[in-house]
Amino acid sequence: MKIRTTRYEITGKSVPRELSGFRIALFSDTHNKDYGQHGERILSLLEAEAPDIVIFAGDGVKKSAHSTDPVKGTERAAELFTAVAARFPLYYVNGNHERRWQKRSRNLPYFSGYVRQLKAAGVHYLCNESRYIAGGALRITGLDLPPKYYKMRGGRLTQLSSFIGRCDPEAFDLLIAHTPAFFPDYAAWGADLTLSGHIHGGIIRLPFIGGLISPHRRFFPRYDYGYYEMDGHSLIVSSGAGDHKPRLTFNNPYEIVLITLCHKEAVHGA
Ligand SMILES: [Fe+2]
Repeated sequence: MKIRTTRYEITGKSVPRELSGFRIALFSDTHNKDYGQHGERILSLLEAEAPDIVIFAGDGVKKSAHSTDPVKGTERAAELFTAVAARFPLYYVNGNHERRWQKRSRNLPYFSGYVRQLKAAGVHYLCNESRYIAGGALRITGLDLPPKYYKMRGGRLTQLSSFIGRCDPEAFDLLIAHTPAFFPDYAAWGADLTLSGHIHGGIIRLPFIGGLISPHRRFFPRYDYGYYEMDGHSLIVSSGAGDHKPRLTFNNPYEIVLITLCHKEAVHGA
């Protein structure tokens, strides 16, 4: 399984001068996949880029984590994130698979054990929480939505602030949201840059059309892959670094994403 590096540059007035050149690596949807000993295939890609921070945008585990062997269902994930956190500041949010795992009370001890492992390894596990870094210039918020939001067909997330409070107009607000489906609401909330996964590129990518279907069987998802912009607010959707079901990788490769922030002076009078 080949994994490529996809690059983006975010340039605009919303990027503070002190964040110019700041580099963010993003990966998602690894689903407890085996990336070699200590996650070496992911780690070597990250080490080649030497980002300032690494973001994991959800679904580090898969369904089998809460079936017959919950320990085996997470051991590759725990190994991977431990290795990444030993090398880089790593910010992790839940995806729908982590949320499904928590649904049954009998699974909770295993889920709690997994989160304890992540935290002990130094992973910044953001469950509807924020952290300031870079002297307060960058605020990172991790959104953790209940399962029902992943099943919605259309509809809005107007009560976003009830999960994560308000944005900070003084900082560059980076929002990690596993599903990109609510991008208009993330932009309205004030996220300068939202990072997402979940859609797996639409499972099958058709030339000139894009992704065919979302993981919840919604055809032609609106935000399926790549870069989107809305009123100065940006969204990057990764195709992910793994799958829990087969997908066609032609025109839809596995990836890690490397984002460079660039400050741009406001044009006088603009
Ligand atoms: Fe997902």
